[in-house]
Amino acid sequence: MDFFDVISTRRSVRVYDSRPVEEEKLQSILKAANDAPSAGNLQSYEIYLVRSKTVQRALATAALGQLFIASAPLALVFCAHPDRAAHQYGERGRRLYAVQDATIACAYAMLAATALGLATVWIGAFNDEEVQRAILKPEGQIPVAILLIGYAAENPAPTRRRSLEDLVHPVE
Ligand SMILES: Cc1cc2nc3c(=O)[nH]c(=O)nc-3n(C[C@H](O)[C@H](O)[C@H](O)COP(=O)(O)O)c2cc1C
Repeated sequence: MDFFDVISTRRSVRVYDSRPVEEEKLQSILKAANDAPSAGNLQSYEIYLVRSKTVQRALATAALGQLFIASAPLALVFCAHPDRAAHQYGERGRRLYAVQDATIACAYAMLAATALGLATVWIGAFNDEEVQRAILKPEGQIPVAILLIGYAAENPAPTRRRSLEDLVHPVE
């Protein structure tokens, strides 16, 4: 798929069919995330791969009862790893770069999944501690996004965007 078609056809999908994600596609998605840029190339984030329905149900509870989370064949939990960035960049790395690293890696994964004919939704509304508990993650990592991936069982309409005139502010 053309890169700009990938961007313009992507939709947040919240109903998935039970068809599993092929292993080669999953590996391509993970490689795309790993190819994302990061501050100082430190990759100050971790990815947790969740296929267990039990863990997905715990994530759904952690995400304020968004039960559709358990209907996707898999979820990737992107966590900032602030200590990795702080080592080189101090407070700015801890506070900002680790979150940016996790965010851009998740965006790459999302677009890669779209390019492979898969559907996704980015989940950001959750209780951090409950997500940490659900994935049994070591201390010191902050969940940034849960990305659901699977085959769509709905076809959502495009959502509205601000006009570029409203969004973009030329600075002379
Ligand atoms: C930071 C962030 C947090 C989001 N959190 C949620 C969420 O918790 N639950 C959900 O269903 N969608 C969530 N979304 C998806 C947005 O609702 C969706 O991207 C937006 O409505 C635009 O629709 P579209 O993705 O289909 O273009 C989130 C998206 C982003 C980028």
